[in-house]
Amino acid sequence: MKFLKYRNGDQMPILGLGTWQAAAGEVYHAIREAIDIGYRHIDCAAVYGNEKEIGKALKDAIKEGSVERQDLWITSKLWGSNHGRANVLPALRQTLDDLQLDYIDLYLIHWPVPLKKGVFFPNSLNDFAFDTAPLSDTWAGMEDAVDKKLARHIGVSNFGPKHLERLMHKARITPENNQVEIHAYNQQPDLVSYCQSKGIHLTCYSPLGSMDRPDRLKKDGDPMLLQDKVIANISRTNKVSPAQVLLANLFKNNIAAIPKSVNPRRLKENFESVDVHLLPEQMEHIRQVNKGRRFFDGAYWVVPNGPLTYETLWE
Ligand code: A2P
Repeated sequence: MKFLKYRNGDQMPILGLGTWQAAAGEVYHAIREAIDIGYRHIDCAAVYGNEKEIGKALKDAIKEGSVERQDLWITSKLWGSNHGRANVLPALRQTLDDLQLDYIDLYLIHWPVPLKKGVFFPNSLNDFAFDTAPLSDTWAGMEDAVDKKLARHIGVSNFGPKHLERLMHKARITPENNQVEIHAYNQQPDLVSYCQSKGIHLTCYSPLGSMDRPDRLKKDGDPMLLQDKVIANISRTNKVSPAQVLLANLFKNNIAAIPKSVNPRRLKENFESVDVHLLPEQMEHIRQVNKGRRFFDGAYWVVPNGPLTYETLWE
């Protein structure tokens, strides 16, 4: 396994298991299988609604001796309705309860979008909480989590450079990770250079193009990343799968990836991608397939007369 090193020397496996869309009744087995294959990094979030089932799988795996807690890297995320300093620790404690853990390895602000209590997704201006729960205040709560040793590392998700700049301006602890949508069709080279120049690790979600995202998040004409011709050619030449080409390319660029799977064969295939070799010219060909195409454009945050536009959301 390849690792990304954090400031205190802790090491995060560059490959993790994504759990968004891992359904109830499936995610337990996926986690147990993944741990048996060798996965040691699991990516979770309160909003995925499956942390309890993941917690049971982790507890059983530890109890049965499949893995030790200190060898696992568990990430989770704070939802917008729990922004605001006073809300962070209670939300994290709930996640820790659900996951049956004493601490989280990495806790992230899920989106740079504060919401009023009880709001899941906004419908109008009134549902946002930019005034009462500014991001700097929420970040202070994230720092509290580190002080209380409930989170070993803290970071953000879906933040662009401007959001990060503003956050770092007031931060005591610099964010150590930014989890964003990166894949061959959405390579975000500027964001990658910016984060890497600041020592902020990148983790990418949807590295395989998130084919199982809900229909409401699909648009006519969305390209199929796993069927890309350039990727298919490299996959044939190297005798590996298209998914392995996509993942290996991220790892070679020092970007962590959290492909989701609940299928034992694909879990193993993805795990083995860490050892897949790519030639520099193959990586260059992959660089050229970039379309700047997000599968998740954040439309749910851009409401009529709301505070966010697509520009300010991703800035
Ligand atoms: P499944 O869970 O049945 O394996 P992403 O991580 O980009 O969101 O993609 C997740 C989607 O890709 C899921 O539909 C998952 O299905 C599928 N998937 C995961 N690994 C592979 C693979 N190696 N080859 C093809 N599809 C995969």
